[in-house]
Amino acid sequence: MFILALCLYLGKLVSSGVSLEFRYHNTVEVERYLRDVNNTFQFTHLHSIGKSVEGRDLWVLILGKNPSEHQMGIPEFKYVGNMHGNEVVGRVLLLQLIDHLTRGYLSDPLVTRLLNSTRVHILVSMNPDGFESSSRDCMYSQGR
Ligand SMILES: *[C@@H]1O[C@H](CO)[C@@H](O)[C@H](O)[C@H]1NC(C)=O
Ligand SMILES: *[C@@H]1O[C@H](CO)[C@@H](O)[C@H](O)[C@H]1NC(C)=O
Repeated sequence: MFILALCLYLGKLVSSGVSLEFRYHNTVEVERYLRDVNNTFQFTHLHSIGKSVEGRDLWVLILGKNPSEHQMGIPEFKYVGNMHGNEVVGRVLLLQLIDHLTRGYLSDPLVTRLLNSTRVHILVSMNPDGFESSSRDCMYSQGR
Protein backbone atom coordinates (compact mmCIF):
# COMPACT_ATOMS: atom_id res chain seq x y z
CA MET A 1 0.00 0.00 0.00
CA PHE A 2 2.78 2.39 0.96
CA ILE A 3 4.74 1.47 -2.19
CA LEU A 4 1.65 2.04 -4.34
CA ALA A 5 1.07 5.45 -2.74
CA LEU A 6 4.72 6.32 -3.26
CA CYS A 7 4.58 5.29 -6.94
CA LEU A 8 1.44 7.35 -7.51
CA TYR A 9 3.06 10.31 -5.79
CA LEU A 10 6.29 10.02 -7.82
CA GLY A 11 4.32 9.48 -11.03
CA LYS A 12 2.50 12.71 -10.35
CA LEU A 13 5.73 14.57 -9.75
CA VAL A 14 7.25 13.29 -12.97
CA SER A 15 4.23 13.96 -15.18
CA SER A 16 4.25 17.68 -14.40
CA GLY A 17 5.95 20.03 -11.99
CA VAL A 18 2.59 21.53 -11.02
CA SER A 19 -0.13 19.48 -9.38
CA LEU A 20 -3.68 20.26 -8.40
CA GLU A 21 -5.79 18.36 -5.88
CA PHE A 22 -9.52 17.94 -6.46
CA ARG A 23 -10.84 20.07 -3.58
CA TYR A 24 -11.62 23.69 -2.70
CA HIS A 25 -8.63 26.04 -2.82
CA ASN A 26 -8.65 29.36 -0.99
CA THR A 27 -7.54 32.62 -2.60
CA VAL A 28 -3.90 32.28 -1.51
CA GLU A 29 -3.71 28.70 -2.82
CA VAL A 30 -5.30 29.66 -6.15
CA GLU A 31 -2.78 32.46 -6.61
CA ARG A 32 0.13 30.14 -5.77
CA TYR A 33 -1.15 27.54 -8.24
CA LEU A 34 -1.63 30.09 -11.04
CA ARG A 35 1.87 31.49 -10.48
CA ASP A 36 3.32 27.96 -10.62
CA VAL A 37 1.45 27.29 -13.88
CA ASN A 38 2.61 30.61 -15.32
CA ASN A 39 6.21 29.90 -14.36
CA THR A 40 6.16 26.33 -15.66
CA PHE A 41 4.35 26.50 -19.00
CA GLN A 42 5.46 28.84 -21.77
CA PHE A 43 2.04 28.72 -23.38
CA THR A 44 0.44 30.48 -20.39
CA HIS A 45 0.40 34.12 -19.31
CA LEU A 46 -0.86 35.38 -15.94
CA HIS A 47 -2.04 38.92 -15.31
CA SER A 48 -4.23 40.76 -12.83
CA ILE A 49 -7.15 42.69 -14.30
CA GLY A 50 -7.61 44.72 -11.10
CA LYS A 51 -8.40 44.38 -7.43
CA SER A 52 -11.49 43.35 -5.53
CA VAL A 53 -13.11 45.71 -3.00
CA GLU A 54 -11.01 44.12 -0.24
CA GLY A 55 -7.83 44.42 -2.32
CA ARG A 56 -7.41 40.89 -3.69
CA ASP A 57 -6.01 40.54 -7.23
CA LEU A 58 -8.38 39.28 -9.94
CA TRP A 59 -6.02 36.90 -11.74
CA VAL A 60 -6.65 35.92 -15.33
CA LEU A 61 -4.63 33.07 -16.80
CA ILE A 62 -4.34 33.08 -20.58
CA LEU A 63 -3.53 29.86 -22.44
CA GLY A 64 -2.58 29.60 -26.10
CA LYS A 65 0.32 29.28 -28.49
CA ASN A 66 1.06 33.01 -28.11
CA PRO A 67 -0.62 33.79 -24.80
CA SER A 68 0.68 37.28 -24.18
CA GLU A 69 -0.60 39.04 -27.28
CA HIS A 70 -3.65 39.42 -29.50
CA GLN A 71 -3.13 37.99 -32.95
CA MET A 72 -5.11 38.67 -36.08
CA GLY A 73 -7.28 35.67 -36.96
CA ILE A 74 -6.93 33.90 -33.59
CA PRO A 75 -10.27 33.86 -31.76
CA GLU A 76 -10.32 34.60 -28.04
CA PHE A 77 -12.54 32.88 -25.49
CA LYS A 78 -13.26 33.95 -21.92
CA TYR A 79 -14.36 31.81 -18.97
CA VAL A 80 -15.46 33.50 -15.72
CA GLY A 81 -16.11 31.53 -12.52
CA ASN A 82 -17.37 32.15 -9.00
CA MET A 83 -19.26 35.43 -9.62
CA HIS A 84 -21.39 34.61 -6.60
CA GLY A 85 -18.72 34.09 -3.96
CA ASN A 86 -20.47 31.19 -2.23
CA GLU A 87 -21.28 29.35 -5.50
CA VAL A 88 -18.05 27.54 -6.11
CA VAL A 89 -18.57 24.83 -8.73
CA GLY A 90 -17.30 27.06 -11.56
CA ARG A 91 -14.22 27.96 -9.56
CA VAL A 92 -13.35 24.31 -8.95
CA LEU A 93 -14.08 23.30 -12.55
CA LEU A 94 -12.02 26.12 -14.06
CA LEU A 95 -9.00 25.08 -11.96
CA GLN A 96 -9.51 21.53 -13.23
CA LEU A 97 -9.80 22.87 -16.80
CA ILE A 98 -6.44 24.66 -16.41
CA ASP A 99 -4.96 21.40 -15.11
CA HIS A 100 -6.42 19.48 -18.07
CA LEU A 101 -5.21 22.00 -20.67
CA THR A 102 -1.70 22.30 -19.22
CA ARG A 103 -1.28 18.53 -19.03
CA GLY A 104 -2.67 18.00 -22.53
CA TYR A 105 -0.83 20.61 -24.56
CA LEU A 106 1.48 18.89 -27.08
CA SER A 107 0.37 15.43 -25.90
CA ASP A 108 -3.44 15.38 -26.33
CA PRO A 109 -4.27 16.18 -29.99
CA LEU A 110 -7.58 17.91 -29.17
CA VAL A 111 -6.08 20.16 -26.48
CA THR A 112 -3.12 20.94 -28.74
CA ARG A 113 -5.38 21.89 -31.63
CA LEU A 114 -7.52 24.04 -29.32
CA LEU A 115 -4.60 25.99 -27.82
CA ASN A 116 -2.87 26.36 -31.19
CA SER A 117 -5.94 27.98 -32.68
CA THR A 118 -7.61 29.85 -29.78
CA ARG A 119 -6.48 32.16 -27.00
CA VAL A 120 -8.30 31.09 -23.83
CA HIS A 121 -8.74 33.52 -20.90
CA ILE A 122 -9.70 32.08 -17.50
CA LEU A 123 -10.80 34.14 -14.49
CA VAL A 124 -11.12 31.44 -11.84
CA SER A 125 -12.84 33.74 -9.34
CA MET A 126 -14.59 37.01 -10.04
CA ASN A 127 -15.55 37.32 -6.38
CA PRO A 128 -12.67 36.24 -4.11
CA ASP A 129 -13.99 38.46 -1.26
CA GLY A 130 -17.31 36.62 -1.30
CA PHE A 131 -15.61 33.22 -1.37
CA GLU A 132 -13.44 34.12 1.61
CA SER A 133 -16.39 35.44 3.63
CA SER A 134 -18.74 32.53 2.94
CA SER A 135 -19.06 29.70 5.41
CA ARG A 136 -17.00 26.61 4.60
CA ASP A 137 -19.97 24.49 3.58
CA CYS A 138 -21.23 27.34 1.35
CA MET A 139 -24.70 27.10 2.87
CA TYR A 140 -27.05 30.15 3.02
CA SER A 141 -26.36 33.42 1.24
CA GLN A 142 -23.33 34.66 3.19
CA GLY A 143 -20.62 35.60 0.66
CA ARG A 144 -22.87 35.59 -2.35
C1 LIG B 1 4.87 34.76 -15.33
O1 LIG B 1 6.05 34.10 -15.75
C2 LIG B 1 6.98 34.96 -16.42
C3 LIG B 1 8.09 34.10 -16.94
O2 LIG B 1 8.55 33.19 -15.96
C4 LIG B 1 7.44 36.02 -15.42
O3 LIG B 1 8.34 36.90 -16.05
C5 LIG B 1 6.22 36.80 -14.91
O4 LIG B 1 6.63 37.73 -13.92
C6 LIG B 1 5.20 35.84 -14.32
N1 LIG B 1 3.98 36.59 -13.99
C7 LIG B 1 3.42 36.58 -12.77
C8 LIG B 1 2.18 37.40 -12.62
O5 LIG B 1 3.86 35.95 -11.83
C1 LIG C 1 0.84 23.27 -32.32
O1 LIG C 1 1.90 24.21 -32.20
C2 LIG C 1 3.12 23.63 -31.81
C3 LIG C 1 4.13 24.75 -31.54
O2 LIG C 1 4.27 25.60 -32.66
C4 LIG C 1 3.59 22.66 -32.91
O3 LIG C 1 4.80 22.04 -32.50
C5 LIG C 1 2.51 21.58 -33.12
O4 LIG C 1 2.87 20.75 -34.20
C6 LIG C 1 1.16 22.21 -33.38
N1 LIG C 1 0.18 21.13 -33.39
C7 LIG C 1 -1.02 21.22 -33.97
C8 LIG C 1 -1.91 20.01 -33.87
O5 LIG C 1 -1.42 22.23 -34.52
